[in-house]
Amino acid sequence: MATRQLQDAGAASPPPFPEGWFFIARRQDLEKTEIIQKTWMGVDIVIWRDDDGIVCVAEAYCPHLGSYLGPDAGGQICAGRLVCPFHGFEFDATGQCVKTPFAAPPRAARLRVFETHEISGMIFAWWGIDARPPQWQLPQESPEEDGWGRPVVQTTRFPGHPQETTENAVDLAHLTYVHGFDRVQQVGPVTVEGPLLRTAFDFTQRVALAGVPVGEFDVSAEVIVLGLGYSLVEVHERSIGMDARLWTLATPVDGTLIDLTLISQTRKVRHPKRRIVGMAFLPTSLRTELLNRFALSQEMIGVRQDEVIWSRKRYRPRPRLCRSDGEIMTYRAYCAQFYPQAEDARQPWDSEITPIRLATG
Ligand code: FES
Ligand SMILES: [Fe+2]
Repeated sequence: MATRQLQDAGAASPPPFPEGWFFIARRQDLEKTEIIQKTWMGVDIVIWRDDDGIVCVAEAYCPHLGSYLGPDAGGQICAGRLVCPFHGFEFDATGQCVKTPFAAPPRAARLRVFETHEISGMIFAWWGIDARPPQWQLPQESPEEDGWGRPVVQTTRFPGHPQETTENAVDLAHLTYVHGFDRVQQVGPVTVEGPLLRTAFDFTQRVALAGVPVGEFDVSAEVIVLGLGYSLVEVHERSIGMDARLWTLATPVDGTLIDLTLISQTRKVRHPKRRIVGMAFLPTSLRTELLNRFALSQEMIGVRQDEVIWSRKRYRPRPRLCRSDGEIMTYRAYCAQFYPQAEDARQPWDSEITPIRLATG
């Protein structure tokens, strides 16, 4: 079943493209290929970098006579400029046409560009309602890299909405019911400060490696959500003494599908607190790489479990909650800021945004 439940729910659905910063690509991807073409927030875009490494994210249609600019139609990069395949107009990384083969470039020949921001090689672009400029920023500094292993990445695409996928960060009941975590405990309240939402919880998880039980992980997770396209979970596993970071980046594709990109990074574990089955005699770097891949694979198993639910669910604007649900409505109230037009118009889907605090923990 690949139908789009959020849209089927009609007026009760949040708009498909909330305002915020949404993942575009990794710098590494741009180094491998000259131009990336994709559909992002319902817009066909091209992404490239100039000779100084400046990244441009632009709408993929030429302002001259409308050619598609992606490699599929023959778009290419020449001296750091995007060259249109139809009449050879050249665009710099600001989106301005700076050269044509036959005449002076028209001043008004300019691509629609999206502002970008980079964290640890992850490139995000701002999606503003009515094309308005960024209303808030992602973290300005990348996290410490010293002592951390190489990030590993995986993307999966399915019918869904970034509000629904991010909601799982505050939905503690599903951690036990869907993922089989034990002893899930909220740590402190969910806090909201403008576009920043924080939550933290502890849990334990029985794990197996290549079918061999490796014991129980004792995990504390601190979650930072910055809009509906960026969430970072800082994980501390107590039994081994392992720290990990997991970014979950939900990006709407076309109003129906989303790309969910997981990026996992593990701190080098030089002296594990306990023996890790099959890894005891490995050098630190290899152990870190394996642990990281293991962490990502565990997370992907979790996403696949969630995906079964996400891709078939219908948004309930007035969920009938019970006392063990955590702070779903605090989260829903937080989300309303990312649909500023709809907020003004008081759409039915945000008609019940008063936060309620439920007993947790
Ligand atoms: S359509 Fe792009 S140069 Fe003419
Ligand atoms: Fe989940």
